[in-house]
Amino acid sequence: MRKIGIIGMGHVGATVAYTLFTHGIADELILIDNNENKVEAEYNDLHDTLARNNYFVNVRMQDWEALKDADLIITAFGDIAASVKTGDRFGEFNLNAKNAKEVGKKIKETGFNGVIINISNPCDAITQILQETTGLKKNRVFGTGTFLDTARMQRIVGEKLGQDPRNVEGFVLGEHGASQFTAWSTVRVNNKIALQLFDEEDQEKISEQSNKNSFKVANGKGYTSYAIATCAVKLVQAVFSDARLYCPVSTYNPEFKTYIGYPAIVGRDGIEEVIELKLTAEEHQKLEASADKIKEHLEQLK
Ligand code: 2OP
Repeated sequence: MRKIGIIGMGHVGATVAYTLFTHGIADELILIDNNENKVEAEYNDLHDTLARNNYFVNVRMQDWEALKDADLIITAFGDIAASVKTGDRFGEFNLNAKNAKEVGKKIKETGFNGVIINISNPCDAITQILQETTGLKKNRVFGTGTFLDTARMQRIVGEKLGQDPRNVEGFVLGEHGASQFTAWSTVRVNNKIALQLFDEEDQEKISEQSNKNSFKVANGKGYTSYAIATCAVKLVQAVFSDARLYCPVSTYNPEFKTYIGYPAIVGRDGIEEVIELKLTAEEHQKLEASADKIKEHLEQLK
């Protein structure tokens, strides 16, 4: 039985649940939210699809105890309006730091010992709080981080060159937020080095746009959901199938002593390995500055 809890049934949590449900990726889903009406509505809407769905899925709601033997928990609580208002995902920090402490404590009380994939923003800082409050091993708690920003960069680069975004390799690193950056030394398109395809001005613009695109979507529809849910579901599949997927996620970085977007191998135990990159001095500096931003906010909480 592949059993997953989703904590936070807003647009993102619900899209993750729907995708897992309709793609037969989970056998059992446990939906949890502070808003009883919303979680009940999602529970019923999903159940109403059962007779037409290609897969049978057991769905429970508000059952914290059922998380005890779950394989995975996805955390997707928060209030994106606060991020949109301030133009920075740290706009949600105070609210979500409080949420993360409460949720982490409750997860710990269940005896859960699976893998947590955090989506809640600011993703890196909240992932760290969840790891600390659950007491789970660091490799068992990670965040979607710059997996999403990297997908946005791949899209932009692909569009500029008339290529499928999946032909674009490389990483956006750092905070899933304003201090992220495209590590151009890692980017290749059909084996061509991207540094030779774009001048510095274009590199700067693409790097900025990868972050700004999220706000463009959120300003238009009030939230973002499909891209982040697709990233989260891909990570769920990597864990369930022990795929050992090489991708950038928010993972604990021993050099910077914080969670931050960096490439890792994702498999059955969450982060199986962090893959060290040979960055340029400038990229390393940007990564350090991004880590400092995350750490400063976490320090302020203490
Ligand atoms: C995103 O980038 C809001 O963090 C969310 O889509």
